[in-house]
Amino acid sequence: METKEFKKLKGAVIGYGFISGKGHIPAYLARKAQQNDTEIVAVADTCEARRALVKKALPEARVYATYEELLKKEAANLDFVDISTPPCDHAKIAHAALDAGLHVLCEKPITTTLEEAKSLLEKAKSVKRVFFPCHNYKHAPVVKAIREVIESGQIGTVRSVTLSTFRNTHAKGVTEWNTNWRRFQEFSGGGIAMDHGSHSFYLTFEWLGTYPTAISAKMSNLEPQKYDTEDNFSAVLTFPNGLAHCHLTWTAGVRKVIYTIQGTQGAITVDDDDMQISIQEKTSGPDVAQGAIRWNTTKKTIESDWMDASHVTWFNALFDQFITAMKNDDFAGKEAQEAYRCIEIITRAYESAKHECKEMKLVGNYTEKV
Ligand SMILES: NC(=O)c1ccc[n+]([C@@H]2O[C@H](COP(=O)([O-])OP(=O)(O)OC[C@H]3O[C@@H](n4cnc5c(N)ncnc54)[C@H](O)[C@@H]3O)[C@@H](O)[C@H]2O)c1
Repeated sequence: METKEFKKLKGAVIGYGFISGKGHIPAYLARKAQQNDTEIVAVADTCEARRALVKKALPEARVYATYEELLKKEAANLDFVDISTPPCDHAKIAHAALDAGLHVLCEKPITTTLEEAKSLLEKAKSVKRVFFPCHNYKHAPVVKAIREVIESGQIGTVRSVTLSTFRNTHAKGVTEWNTNWRRFQEFSGGGIAMDHGSHSFYLTFEWLGTYPTAISAKMSNLEPQKYDTEDNFSAVLTFPNGLAHCHLTWTAGVRKVIYTIQGTQGAITVDDDDMQISIQEKTSGPDVAQGAIRWNTTKKTIESDWMDASHVTWFNALFDQFITAMKNDDFAGKEAQEAYRCIEIITRAYESAKHECKEMKLVGNYTEKV
């Protein structure tokens, strides 16, 4: 495929909150210092106190109170927009940016409804601009290590995976704006499933190598008098070749991820930075665990900065993917389509939970009827 060459890319960030202030913008600045192929020239944030902070981080950037004003004044001079606002506004900002002829990098969840997700992917294709989700967990060092082990064939064919994400609280937004927005539907569109679900779901796609066909889910809200979104979520996804169990909680005693990947010849267990790889060994000796099998187990530590919620060190590789999509005219490519699938899973999970864990079918393809 013929790829385009780019001059330096000019971008604007919409929403200068936690993820852009601690993650995206420091990563853009590091990229500018090292590769000098990208520059953030403008920022919009509706909160005055946050706009004041932009001046410190990016003294040369032009700062706006609304994305509309930014697009009006800057679009002609920009290549892309990075959307880092709460999810309720992602769709309208992304549509406006695509309509203005800009490529869009959008934080997860890309939208809060399936209809919006479908319409964004269709818009990206029709205006020939890239829409790309921030599926940054794919770039966590320990997730890269899992990918290498699966691809090496050591554990055989993956048949089931479990992903548990433990958080002692909901993720808090910056204090200058609305720190608890994730606990209110009107801003977030949902609780922990909406907020974190995408990260678990796109990892299941990769690990099982297929897409799910059905979901059954259960959730709870332990503080209904204060909040209207769920703080605990548990779901089973059916895949053509296995099952995935995703458990997410904001009421845990410890912050942690535990992932397990079970294959026909072995397994991977991840506990934050600690990775254990167990490979089956046939033995001629006495039965071990009733299967005449022993496991050859190796342990590794892979620093992944799980405790740093900005995941700043994972951003550069994600941005490389975004640039590749721009170069290849991959307008609503695999990542965008997987983001659509994540929104479908979240939507159907809410329906399942409302109907006593009824199994809901997943269509997956955004070009098919929603
Ligand atoms: N990929 C990840 O690992 C990761 C981590 C954290 C957050 N996120 C995502 O990033 C997004 C933002 O989360 P956050 O934690 O940074 O939130 P935050 O509350 O810290 O920041 C949101 C910022 O957006 C501003 N804002 C709100 N509405 C706006 C609008 N319409 N236009 C312009 N500015 C607006 C607020 O003033 C605030 O400064 C969410 O979609 C969240 O899911 C992703």
